[in-house]
Amino acid sequence: MKVLVLNGPNLGRLGKREPGVYGSATYADLVELCEQTGRELGAEVEVRQTDHEGEMVGWLHEAADERWPVVLNAGAWTHYSVAVRDAAAQLHSALIELHISNVHKRERFRHTSYLSDISTAVIAGLGVRGYSLALRWLAEQD
Ligand code: DQA
Repeated sequence: MKVLVLNGPNLGRLGKREPGVYGSATYADLVELCEQTGRELGAEVEVRQTDHEGEMVGWLHEAADERWPVVLNAGAWTHYSVAVRDAAAQLHSALIELHISNVHKRERFRHTSYLSDISTAVIAGLGVRGYSLALRWLAEQD
């Protein structure tokens, strides 16, 4: 099984970015956590991050064409991007919408998601540990 873990804007700054909200794990720690989980599960896990919406759309097209499951932390795009939603809607395998923070405990604009109703499941508020739980669940379905 191959899984793409896609991260949107500002997630490359994990560790430095609002640690009270997102924790102290860095983006490098997140990549290592996902890759380590993949090794434990015998799954190929590829982790990517971009601050550019068009690049994210392209990666979702690739996942759709390859029929890969996706763990997607779309960051702020979650709350307003029809383009990211339309690309994610083309996936043929599971889509896990993921947020490090519990967006429902935060500002009202974060309560809206353009992804939840096209996602297989939503994980929010479990910190970076949510990524390894998402990967474990996907491996169980395989
Ligand atoms: C986030 C929550 C979003 O509201 C925010 O814009 C992010 C990160 C999270 O992981 O908690 O960039 O998706």
